[in-house]
Amino acid sequence: MIPDKVPKDDVFYGAAELQKGAHVPTFEKYKDMYMQSIQDPDKFWGDMAKDFFWKSQHTGRFLDYNFDVTKGEIFTKCMAGASTNICYNVLDRNVHDRKLGDKVAFHWEGNEPGDESMVTYRELLHAVCRFANVLKSQGVRKGDRVAIYLPMVVELVVAMLACARLGAVHSIVFAGFSAESLSDRIMDSGCSLLVTADGFYRGDKLINLKILADEALQKCRDKGFPLHRCIVLKHLSKEAHETSLSCPPAKRSCPDLQVPWNPEVDRCWHALVAAASDQCEPEWCESEDPLFILYTSGSTGKPKGVLHTLSGYMLYTAATFKLVFDHRPDDVYWCTADIGWITGHSYVTYGPLANGATSVLFEGLPTYPDVSRMWQMVDKYRVSKFYTAPTAIRLLMKYGNEPVQKYKRDSLKVLGTVGEPINPEAWHWYFSVVGDSRCPIVDTFWQTETGGHVLTPLPAATPMKPGSATFPFFGVVPAILNECGEELEGPSEGYLVFKQPWPGVMRTVYGNHGRFQSTYFKKFPGYYVTGDGCRRDKDGYYWITGRIDDMLNVSGHLLSTAEVESALVEHEAVAEAAVVGRPHPVKGESLYCFVTLGDGRTFNPTLEAQLRKQVREKIGAIATPDYIQDAPGLPKTRSGKIMRRVLRQIARGEKDLGDISTLADSSVVETLFINRCQPAL
Ligand code: PRX
Repeated sequence: MIPDKVPKDDVFYGAAELQKGAHVPTFEKYKDMYMQSIQDPDKFWGDMAKDFFWKSQHTGRFLDYNFDVTKGEIFTKCMAGASTNICYNVLDRNVHDRKLGDKVAFHWEGNEPGDESMVTYRELLHAVCRFANVLKSQGVRKGDRVAIYLPMVVELVVAMLACARLGAVHSIVFAGFSAESLSDRIMDSGCSLLVTADGFYRGDKLINLKILADEALQKCRDKGFPLHRCIVLKHLSKEAHETSLSCPPAKRSCPDLQVPWNPEVDRCWHALVAAASDQCEPEWCESEDPLFILYTSGSTGKPKGVLHTLSGYMLYTAATFKLVFDHRPDDVYWCTADIGWITGHSYVTYGPLANGATSVLFEGLPTYPDVSRMWQMVDKYRVSKFYTAPTAIRLLMKYGNEPVQKYKRDSLKVLGTVGEPINPEAWHWYFSVVGDSRCPIVDTFWQTETGGHVLTPLPAATPMKPGSATFPFFGVVPAILNECGEELEGPSEGYLVFKQPWPGVMRTVYGNHGRFQSTYFKKFPGYYVTGDGCRRDKDGYYWITGRIDDMLNVSGHLLSTAEVESALVEHEAVAEAAVVGRPHPVKGESLYCFVTLGDGRTFNPTLEAQLRKQVREKIGAIATPDYIQDAPGLPKTRSGKIMRRVLRQIARGEKDLGDISTLADSSVVETLFINRCQPAL
């Protein structure tokens, strides 16, 4: 499955000195380790587990599973019966056993240049213990769900680890999501408490987060789900600054900051923390106890609460972080993802902390106050490992080389990307301009569901091909299937699936195991189905070709077309809506919406603006439609199914529509074509 030989030509390597002291220095070594990980996963992962603290050892098989729906319930268990605590492993173990108490865990950099602070492992441990005591005092117990809706501040890490310390389950909602998205998630996961903040800046835009949180809580109340406690971090309010771990914002008045306060529900983070002890015994949990729920878009519309459990996730994020970024003790690592996404969970918080790494935690944007911000920060913190998304690279690439080259970037050793396929042009720019042709690029393919990287190069070992996620990580066995479910050998293209679990794979959809089984395991019994298409080339390299379900990838974030459509049809003027992706030079894909209005309604700029606002308010700014087209009719088959392929082609302006003989009324296509939205300038 892994090729014996890798090609000599048309591949790229990073600087040869990276091999010195690397965890996996050569392709031969990768192959050996890979074979061991497949032939004897229990030994492979068992060796990794030795680095961690176990209160008691596992009792059953190291990794036990069923991936075949025809043989019964789908399950994966890793180290069942063992007891441990992930917070203890990422903090106490580092402070006490590994003597890393004085090492910086995070350099925090705020939205505004000059807003900065740092926190050591010992300080982080104390802050987490204090907040865990606060949560306890508010009634949070093992197994309870806690919603967290915070910007990128150190306190976000503190809140998540405090939950983990108590065995409570965190459900983090990206602070760019709307009030409605937050309330849906709070109710779906049955949270008993919300942690949020007064507000934050994104570039020069103030986000009044507490107002959104209050709207969400009101929606919950309206639906008979009252939430009795909300802890509010004062990030921008004046009184916040003394006890804040994320340094006070630069002296700036925030006249527009509004922090409505409901004394029955709201409590001030700082007041509670000031009164709490910095000692807190961890709650010893079982390996398969839930660690967190994180929502991801589902192709049927309603987001799915992806559930990850403790030990397997801990081992997997720790191992992938260590090997994929070839982590060394003196590294400074920076992952630009927000913790509200899986990349932030696994590669801002758990993976780096499990390795005792020093990271940069950045609140701001790559373009604020100017497009040099990232590279200025790379020099400032001497970042050696840098991990971002193709959409950010494409965005910065537009501004040319000068904003990059005015900084030295000589500390950089490894670059990474995640979230969507990286087009070769962006890859080459990242490699040659940002990394000065010295730094390998780890193009990491994975999903919220996979917990960690599943296809990825290893920086010192894998010859790279621009745009290919290359080969499987240890313990991962990919296959490519055709429509009939047959495994394809050699060069081929089809459905990307995995044949067996790795420790970090999701365990269920929270509250809906049936949906978990039908989404990922029903189409091809015996396999985990990713939902992505994939090509394997003659050299055995894997190339992700994109989603094969009705999901769109906008700036590295998955959105379901059904979710956006249902937000549109909730507007009283809209009778029907169909949403497709249109390629976008920076975002990867943009949202192109066709709307059919109800009788007597006319399409005009006011309605268009209302629809945009409606989607933004229902889902969040990332789902704001780029194009909305009036569609008097939609192309449907005789059985009434919308032909999305045709809509996609119209959105792209492709005149040759192929076979449309199955359409009930082909004249609608012509009308849609004539009225199609032109690309924005
Ligand atoms: O389509 C693939 C794409 O992102 C999807 C997973 O999205 P999400 O669960 O939000 O997690 C994103 C961060 C892990 C995948 O099904 N994707 C992710 N990474 C890559 C990618 N597509 C191609 N290459 C990648 N490196």
